Amino acid sequence: MADTLEDKVARRRTFAIISHPDAGKTTLTEKLLLFGGAIQLAGEVKAKKNRQSSRSDWMKIEKERGISVVTSVMTFEYEDHVFNLLDTPGHEDFADDTYRTLTAVDSAIMVIDAAKGIEPRTLKLFEVCRLRDIPIITFVNKMDREARDNFEILDEIEEKLALDTAPITWPIGQGKSFCGTYHLAESAVRHGDDETERTKVNGPQADAAAGMLPDNEQEGFVEGVELAAEACRPFDMQAFREGHLTPVFFGSALKNYGVRDLIHALMDYAPAPRAQEAENRHVEATEKGMSAFVFKIQANMDPNHRDRIAFVRVCSGTLARGMKAKLVRTGKAMPLSAPQFFFASQRHLAEEAYAGDVVGIPNHGTLRIGDTLTDGEDIVFRGVPNFAPEILRRVSLKDAMKAKKLKEALAQMAEEGVVQLFTPEDGSPAIVGVVGALQIDVLAERLNQEYSLPVGFEQARFAVARWISAPSPQELRDFMEAHRGEMTRDLDGDPVYMAPNAFSLNYEAERWPKIEFATVKDYQIGAKKAA
Ligand code: G4P
Repeated sequence: MADTLEDKVARRRTFAIISHPDAGKTTLTEKLLLFGGAIQLAGEVKAKKNRQSSRSDWMKIEKERGISVVTSVMTFEYEDHVFNLLDTPGHEDFADDTYRTLTAVDSAIMVIDAAKGIEPRTLKLFEVCRLRDIPIITFVNKMDREARDNFEILDEIEEKLALDTAPITWPIGQGKSFCGTYHLAESAVRHGDDETERTKVNGPQADAAAGMLPDNEQEGFVEGVELAAEACRPFDMQAFREGHLTPVFFGSALKNYGVRDLIHALMDYAPAPRAQEAENRHVEATEKGMSAFVFKIQANMDPNHRDRIAFVRVCSGTLARGMKAKLVRTGKAMPLSAPQFFFASQRHLAEEAYAGDVVGIPNHGTLRIGDTLTDGEDIVFRGVPNFAPEILRRVSLKDAMKAKKLKEALAQMAEEGVVQLFTPEDGSPAIVGVVGALQIDVLAERLNQEYSLPVGFEQARFAVARWISAPSPQELRDFMEAHRGEMTRDLDGDPVYMAPNAFSLNYEAERWPKIEFATVKDYQIGAKKAA
């Protein structure tokens, strides 16, 4: 059957999972992949073995790549839908990476530990989603353990996240007695994820489902269901799509409950690839012209090939293997000879990709984060931001002869987004900036391992960095000349002012009211300005 571009786009879901460490993100990811057949399921033993190997593969990569293992993407299919799951880095230090990943998804699953509720990292990630109005589906995990009261969990989501909740399923029991999920609107039961269909239950309210529980828990269950039907909000598609309401599902990723409900929620509720905001216009996902943006660069993914992969999200049209794309930043043509899809821990050539798909494009430094690729039009996508670093360090080399090599390596790390690199105007050594302290360790480790450059770090005399701009070039020049010793350029050549502390920054800001000191920079817009 010939599939139109519209059909292909409509079948796609590109999402991320956000959670606090230990809530069950890895377990849930494995189960989703298992459903998608990405990990072949042939009998319990083999499934177990495969599950383990998928897990240990990741752990191996994680170990090899240090904690810097980042935004991997996993593509799988289920019931005619194509799912692109973008993994957000687990460590809170990787704010930059996480933000960038979330610019490339259309929806997110928020996993909550049923005993712990909303934890700090969940809250932070949720706030990022809210900035972009990303619709969120909630999965309350670990219902097979002692959990908090269901209503208490819903209340906490509403209060802490200021997000309306609409429970779609209700857990049948909890802890030892947990034995399935009950669909509130359909009055139907799914005992576990092995069941493809829900079974309709008859009788007033949920009596038949309650029969699955021990005698002393039945009444409480029926009351809970009645109260949920009366007191909770019904699901409202528009409120969900606008990011004001979250449908809630209960389950246990480990024990195979509720994951099938969740995958159906992705199909039924989560949006297909959305229109993307470019600098001069909306780009609809179903437009014929190809457009895509780079949200992540990862080097040396495969230790056997010292390659560098740019992860691009396709926004419209068809990205076909062999096509010549235009890199809008430089205006140059770039042949896409080996775009790749990622499938669990394997990758294979992508012949064609459509809006919502994420493909890896091997390159040798041509592509940067925030770059737009098209089949001709000068589109520039917004929204892959760069954040002012909170930690600034000078890199000191143990072997001074390797200064040039260090410069190249730092530039590569900066293009990859591992660190930001600032070159002082007065010719003094480069300064690296990071948002979280751990990134400094990752940088040192990678410089040593991948470039054989043992380095140390020294306190820079600055602690604050801001991108600066002014209404006129002359005003900007005046400021820069008056602050030559504090001026640096970022990777794109954009001017960055550095101050020893927040106090001096505020002082300068008061003295120079026309100068704007920015904490966030959009990669492309900055790059264009510098050009
Ligand atoms: P994360 O990626 O969010 O950090 O969480 P992960 O899936 O690694 O899960 C953290 C721990 O919670 C793991 O146990 C995992 O088995 C367990 N877990 C995940 N989902 C459920 C669930 O639905 N029910 C129960 N009871 N446990 C769950 P661990 O002992 O730390 O690791 P492992 O040795 O079991 O792999």
